[in-house]
Amino acid sequence: MAARDPNLVTSAKKIPLFPLLSLICFTSVFLILSQFRKASIPSALTSPNRSFDIPDEASRSTVRVGSCDYSDGSWVYDRKASSARYDHTCKEIFKGWNCRLGNKSNAGDIVKWRWKPDHCDLPQFDPVRFLQDYRDSSIGFVGDSLNRNMFVSLFCSLRSVSNEVKKWRPAGADRGFTFLLYNLTIAYHRTNLLARYGRWSANAHGGALESLGFKEGFRVDVDIPESTWAQAPSFHDILIFNTGHWWWAPSKFDPVKSPMLFFNKGQPIIPPLPPDRGLDLVLERMICYVEERSKSNAVKIFRTQSPRHFEGGDWDQGGSCPRLQPISTEQVENLFSVNNNGTNVETRLVNEHLYKVLSGSGFVVLDITHLSEFRADAHPSSAGGKKHDDCMHWCLPGLTDTWNDLFIAHLYSIRNRN
Ligand SMILES: *[C@@H]1O[C@H](CO)[C@@H](O)[C@H](O)[C@H]1NC(C)=O
Ligand SMILES: *[C@@H]1O[C@H](CO)[C@@H](O)[C@H](O)[C@H]1NC(C)=O
Ligand SMILES: *[C@@H]1O[C@H](CO)[C@@H](O)[C@H](O)[C@H]1NC(C)=O
Ligand SMILES: *[C@@H]1O[C@H](CO)[C@@H](O)[C@H](O)[C@H]1NC(C)=O
Repeated sequence: MAARDPNLVTSAKKIPLFPLLSLICFTSVFLILSQFRKASIPSALTSPNRSFDIPDEASRSTVRVGSCDYSDGSWVYDRKASSARYDHTCKEIFKGWNCRLGNKSNAGDIVKWRWKPDHCDLPQFDPVRFLQDYRDSSIGFVGDSLNRNMFVSLFCSLRSVSNEVKKWRPAGADRGFTFLLYNLTIAYHRTNLLARYGRWSANAHGGALESLGFKEGFRVDVDIPESTWAQAPSFHDILIFNTGHWWWAPSKFDPVKSPMLFFNKGQPIIPPLPPDRGLDLVLERMICYVEERSKSNAVKIFRTQSPRHFEGGDWDQGGSCPRLQPISTEQVENLFSVNNNGTNVETRLVNEHLYKVLSGSGFVVLDITHLSEFRADAHPSSAGGKKHDDCMHWCLPGLTDTWNDLFIAHLYSIRNRN
């Protein structure tokens, strides 16, 4: 893994000149916008078009760390796996994710499954060694509750070997901790869309959106980061981003009653864009924002989409995830294939957008999607303590521990390359 490997997924085009970078950022958004202007998409506003012109392979692009491709493999049950790296007593675990306390029947089994890549091993990271190796640095998780789930997993893993921690909120974070013996800080910045958004209602004096008949919605400023993480790029040495399921959440962003209305430079984008086009713009702008402000040697990672496993309906239609074991390759394709357009179709669609926009950027892609698609057994399900089943977040300890193994393998690989 220490080998220098040109195949590592990172398109590390380093552009040190700020003005040049800004120009590129500005120009590309301009180009995207002018593309939209050419294509008029009024019908797409009320019926979001979920098909894209990117081939299916985009969601399965090869991920290598060192000489290993971690994305293809299988889950192997290890009866002897002694215990998790931390347990249900870690206080940072959100109650709904604490499957042991929630009495989920397979809570003990979830951590006995190990991801075995086809041609190598993905070792469990060593928390003591990690604290030593990443002394005096700071890691920021920026994204939705799935990134918080991953952040909590990392916190609990480190906390189990080092309990002198200071709890605080670095750079406007929702929560954060410094492991005092090592001066290693980890923080979680909460943001659903990355871009700033808020309620919008028609103005009595009228305007471009009003004249198109819009009355209520959400204003999404594609060029402005949410304040919760605006300071994160200049603060942290390692950044790991995600955004995803909120873009496909009609229960909040109802395409008719409360659509997303995109703004650029304070002005509504006309004609209005459907959410998937808005996502491209936001990704483009936010990637520029981070590249302009992050420290020169910062490691910037974008995590791919975490799959949901609702079967028999979506979360608000009585859907559930009662499986007690990982599902087969065939079942995975059945649930997630874009052509099937099932309940959880956003999983691979989000990735198509991410890969399209991230290629050519200075971000490393952390692909956790395919390995997670098998883990229908690892959600809180009915043990989440909500009225509906939680088939979106992950039990802790659980799957996001494996994401962190992969994350940390990437970090070591990047460090060895430099
Ligand atoms: C969705 O987009 C695809 C590709 O651009 C197009 O072929 C198809 O007709 C569209 N479907 C709808 C319902 O707009
Ligand atoms: C996919 O399914 C949704 C809801 O089940 C439907 O509204 C949409 O039109 C479908 N999209 C395509 C491209 O078939
Ligand atoms: C889990 O089981 C224990 C022991 O039977 C019980 O005391 C506790 O209330 C249960 N918790 C939940 C959330 O059902
Ligand atoms: C602690 O780590 C931060 C980076 O997170 C660094 O800026 C700071 O100088 C370190 N403090 C000491 C005392 O080394």
